[in-house]
Formats: sequence, structure tokens, C-alpha cells
Amino acid sequence: MRMPMPELARNPLSWVGAALVTMSASLFLLVYAFELAGWHANPYIGIVFFLVMPGLFLFGLVLIPIGMWREVLARRRGVIRGPWHWPVIDLNTPRQRKVIGIVALLTVANLVIISLAAFRGVHHMDSSEFCGQVCHEVMQPEFVSYQAGPHARVGCVACHIGPGAPWFVRSKLSGARQLYAVAFGTHSRPIPSPVHNLRPARDTCEQCHWPEKFHGDKIRAFRDYADDEANSEAVTVMRLHVGGGSESVGPIDGIHWHTSRANEIEYIATDDKRQVIPWVRLRKPNGEVKEWVAEGVTADALAAGERRRMDCMDCHNRPSHAFAGSAERAVDQAIAQGQIARTLPFVRREAVRLLKDAHPSQQAAGAAIRVGLEAFYRAEHPAVLSAGRTALDGAITSVQRLYDRNVFPSMQVRWGTYANNLGHMDFPGCFRCHDDSHKAKDGTTISQDCETCHKIEENP
Ligand code: HEC
Ligand code: HEC
Ligand code: HEC
Ligand code: HEC
Ligand code: HEC
Repeated sequence: MRMPMPELARNPLSWVGAALVTMSASLFLLVYAFELAGWHANPYIGIVFFLVMPGLFLFGLVLIPIGMWREVLARRRGVIRGPWHWPVIDLNTPRQRKVIGIVALLTVANLVIISLAAFRGVHHMDSSEFCGQVCHEVMQPEFVSYQAGPHARVGCVACHIGPGAPWFVRSKLSGARQLYAVAFGTHSRPIPSPVHNLRPARDTCEQCHWPEKFHGDKIRAFRDYADDEANSEAVTVMRLHVGGGSESVGPIDGIHWHTSRANEIEYIATDDKRQVIPWVRLRKPNGEVKEWVAEGVTADALAAGERRRMDCMDCHNRPSHAFAGSAERAVDQAIAQGQIARTLPFVRREAVRLLKDAHPSQQAAGAAIRVGLEAFYRAEHPAVLSAGRTALDGAITSVQRLYDRNVFPSMQVRWGTYANNLGHMDFPGCFRCHDDSHKAKDGTTISQDCETCHKIEENP
């Protein structure tokens, strides 16, 4: 049976349109069906089948009426097949009923396919694999740290976009700009942060976390190792006054006092990384306002700075993309976790030394780390190469992993590239404000007294 085709659609452009529609719809539906059956498309295949195919589908759908319209114009001008007249629709002829029936059926089918494609396409663009892997090299530092962090199962979009249509549209517009930058290699290395248009924490972090319900202290042990032969350990046990609370739940105090809804803290940063904060203002619920200004700052500098309301991200700026603050930190943590055996003489010193060397790529670094550690033990402690072989191999793998996790030569991400504002040892962090030199009119300062924030346990 020959499929009845409206007469006007019998022109080359409409034929091409129909062919595109049929082909792209079949491919899209086929891959979608595979996926429903449990197969996972990688992000590139996803782009082809969930973004490009629906695009071709829509393009084809548009071509069909355009072809028909050109046909109408051609007939009106009398160029083809006699004088123009509108088609007569007469439901009494079986052929016309058939045509209309098929057109109606195809329209419903198209609407279903378009909705499926829109749903699947949006879902695809919101997946962490899409965000993290499509621009593989560019996003590698963020994707690697994300996967190793506490939010590995939270989608990128939960923090970077959050709920609601306006931010979705905004992010897709900026995504298109970023795609352009990646395609033409015009993006910055490293990708700059803070992300200035990041959505306020209230709409992202606070969808899951509720520090108003936090209270009290948290005990943490920090372990450091020395550069001696024994890699001597020093432990600092600390009671961090995490605090929190709200008017209804409990006292508003401690570290999460800043983000209680009762307090509104604003600040001005005069550098684009928000590391220099010369002006801070607190507004309490009773309307009382207090301002602190750093010594020597000028009104012009303040006017040129960025003003911002403090939220979670001003301390937790690396909740998902945390890199070790230094090679020493990274190695200490790996020793504390038993990934690098403390029994290896001088392993802390040697690992730090090798991690600090500059290399053109992670592969080159990996090779240099193996060669470097083996050469050191061969020369200084040959017994390790035989009796300590397992420990040494484990240490080599761990040190290589530390490099791959923290240093990305192609993106110019190195130790300390991204400041972490939680704490004050590796970066200014809390001390951007708590430095005892931001003064209020009454002469008081934002305190640097250690016990405001934590109490070091003398005999843990
Ligand atoms: C838990 C929240 C969270 C999740 C999940 C998250 N991010 Fe981020 N991301 C942030 C924050 C906060 C910043 C801002 C960092 C700063 O200001 O120092 C950021 C910064 C970035 C930056 C800017 C460069 C940098 O390192 O500062 C990129 C790129 C990025 N994220 C990509 C991603 C990708 C890709 C994913 C998913 C694979 C993801 N993010 C998941 C919170 C998150
Ligand atoms: C979709 C939910 C979700 C969102 C959004 C989210 N988080 Fe989390 N976050 C979690 C979960 C779940 C954990 C606990 C992970 C675990 O214990 O393994 C967590 C853990 C944490 C921790 C503790 C980390 C640690 O090392 O113990 C911090 C701090 C944190 N989140 C801060 C943030 C900040 C800041 C944001 C916003 C930028 C944010 N989170 C957004 C779900 C979320
Ligand atoms: C003034 C800085 C600061 C602000 C602002 C801040 N936090 Fe924290 N937060 C901390 C510190 C410091 C810790 C303890 C970190 C540690 O364990 O070493 C912490 C701990 C946490 C933890 C882990 C709690 C636990 O018991 O392990 C979560 C989750 C968290 N914060 C979420 C948030 C969220 C969500 C916001 C915004 C509403 C926020 N924080 C605002 C500094 C801050
Ligand atoms: C943008 C400036 C700013 C930053 C950054 C900042 N604070 Fe504060 N913090 C303040 C101000 C302002 C006060 C109120 C001081 C006062 O009232 O004397 C305060 C008060 C506190 C208090 C006392 C709260 C109470 O119980 O009254 C603690 C604890 C605290 N901060 C911890 C931290 C920690 C920990 C960090 C880093 C993770 C940090 N702050 C970073 C501005 C800041
Ligand atoms: C404004 C709050 C604040 C003040 C004031 C403060 N600290 Fe801290 N300090 C922190 C936070 C928060 C951490 C934990 C950082 C983290 O979670 O990694 C920390 C961590 C430390 C650590 C552990 C270091 C490590 O190995 O990472 C030491 C030691 C320390 N502080 C010493 C001090 C001393 C000494 C003072 C007084 C001069 C002081 N701090 C004042 C907030 C503060």
C-alpha cells in the first residue's frame, strides 16, 4: 500500500524533512529503549542521540511545511502544474479521511517524541557525567575532586543551578558561552573561582543541610608528620565550636552563628578571589547594626570592591572540589589513613619533595615519582627494596594518586591554586575577618582569640 501523502508535500524539501524526521526519531527511540533496558550511554553518545537527534527531528519537522509553502508559492506564480487553488477538504472521500487520520496520528506521535526528547535532553544536560566529562580536560580538576568528595552522589546541578526554571535557563545560556570558549580554546586555565554568579546557598546547600539544627562541638584530630627518619607523628585534638541553632531550636552561637537567619553579615572584598575583606557589617534582628573596617583601607577601595551577603560558600567554598592545601597536607593525610606506610624511612620528606616538582603532565609525574622513590631507597636504604617491597609499591601508588588528585598541569592547577576558606592554616580563611585588626567605632575588633572557634585538648 502506498502511503497517501498530501499532494503539497510531494516536493524535494518536504521529502528531505520527512526523511530526517523518520531517521532521527527512530534512532532516538532506539537508543532511549536501550537505555530503559539498562544500557548506559557515555556522555558523547548522549550528546549525539539525546541532543543532536532531537535537533534534527525538529529541523525535519520544520522543513516539511516550509517545502509545502514553497510549493504553494510556486503554484500561485503558475510555475508548476497549472493555476493555484487551496486544497479542498472533503471528508466524504475515503482518501482524504485517510490522509487526515494519518496526519493526526503522526502529530500525536511527534508530540510524544518531542516531549520525550525534551525530557531526556534536559536530563542529559543536567547529569554530572555531561557536566564533568564532555569538556573532559577543562573540567578534569573539578570532576576528579567531586568524585572523591562528600558530594559525589549529589548532582553538579544541585549546587550550580538549583531548583526552578529561571536559573536553569540562565545556566544553559552561560553553558552555551562556555561551550564556545572550550571549542575555541579561549577559556581560562585554571577556571577562575569564586563563581561569581553562583546561586545563593539558601537555594542550594540549604535544600539539604539545615545548620539551624546543628549545635555543640565537634571533635577533630589533626595528624602531622615530621621530616625525620621515623616520620614522627604529632596529634592535635580539637573541639571545634560548630554551633548553629535558631530562635526556636536553641542558642545561636559558635561557627554557624554567621548563617543563622537571625544574623545578616555583609562584607566587601577588594580582590576577585575574595581573599581581602576590609569591611564587614552585621545586622541583628533587632535592627542593631555594627560595622568593622580594616586599618588603612580607603573609601575608594571599598567603593570599587564587591559587596556580598555572607553565606555557606564563604567558608565552605570547596565543599565539592577540595584540593589539598599543600603537598605536606596531602602526604600527612595519606599517612594518617595508612595509605603510605609510616614504616618507610623518610617517606614523608621524600614524598613531599617529589610531589612538589613541576611536571608537564600527570603521566610524566607518575613516572618521576616511581623513579624518584626507588632511587632514594636504593641509594639510602637498600633493605627497603627487598624486605619493604610491598610497602614501597603501595607508597608509590598512593603518592602518584595524590598527584593525580591535586595537580593538573594542563589546566595549570597546582598546590594552593584554589584557596580553601575553611580554617586558617593554609589560606587566610577565617582570618580574613578574624584578625583583631578590623575595628568597629567602639574600638572592639573581630576576635582572633583561639577559643572563640576551638579548644585544643591538652591531654586527649
Ligand atoms: C556541593 C556543591 C557542589 C557540587 C555538587 C558541585 N560543585 Fe562545582 N563548585 C561549587 C562551589 C561552591 C564552587 C565555588 C568554588 C570557590 O568559590 O572557590 C564551585 C566551583 C566550580 C568550578 C569553578 C572552578 C573551581 O574549581 O572553583 C567548576 C568548573 C565547577 N565547580 C564544576 C563542577 C562540576 C563539573 C560538578 C559536577 C561534576 C560540580 N562542580 C559539582 C559547588 C559544587
Ligand atoms: C542534594 C543534597 C545536598 C546539597 C545540595 C548539598 N549537600 Fe552537602 N552533603 C550532602 C550529603 C548527603 C552529605 C553527607 C555525605 C557523607 O557523609 O558521606 C553532605 C556533606 C556535607 C559536608 C560535610 C563534609 C564532610 O567532609 O564531612 C559539608 C561541609 C557540606 N555538605 C556542605 C555543603 C555546602 C556548602 C553545600 C552548598 C554549596 C552543600 N553541602 C550542598 C548533601 C548535600
Ligand atoms: C563561618 C564559616 C562557616 C559558615 C558560614 C558555614 N559553615 Fe559549615 N562549618 C564550618 C566549619 C569550620 C565546620 C567544621 C569543619 C570541620 O569539621 O573541620 C563546619 C561544618 C559543617 C558541616 C559538617 C558538620 C558536622 O558535624 O560534621 C556541614 C554539613 C556544614 N558545615 C554545612 C554548612 C552550611 C549548609 C552552611 C550554610 C547555611 C554553613 N555550613 C555555613 C564553617 C562554616
Ligand atoms: C566575612 C567576615 C568573616 C569571616 C570570613 C568569618 N567570620 Fe566569624 N565572625 C564575623 C563577625 C563580624 C563576627 C561577630 C563578631 C562580634 O560580634 O564581635 C563573627 C563571629 C564569630 C564567632 C562567634 C559567634 C558567637 O557565638 O557569637 C565564631 C565562633 C566565628 N565567628 C567563627 C568563624 C570561623 C571558624 C570562620 C572561618 C571558617 C569565620 N568565623 C569566618 C565575621 C567573619
Ligand atoms: C575564627 C575562628 C578561629 C580562630 C580565631 C582560630 N582558629 Fe584555629 N582553626 C579554625 C578552624 C575552623 C579550624 C579547622 C579547619 C579545618 O576544618 O580543617 C582550625 C584549625 C586549627 C588548627 C589545626 C591545624 C591543622 O593542622 O589544620 C590549629 C593548630 C589551630 N587552628 C590553631 C589556632 C590557634 C593557635 C589560634 C589562636 C591564635 C587559632 N587557631 C584561632 C578556626 C579558628
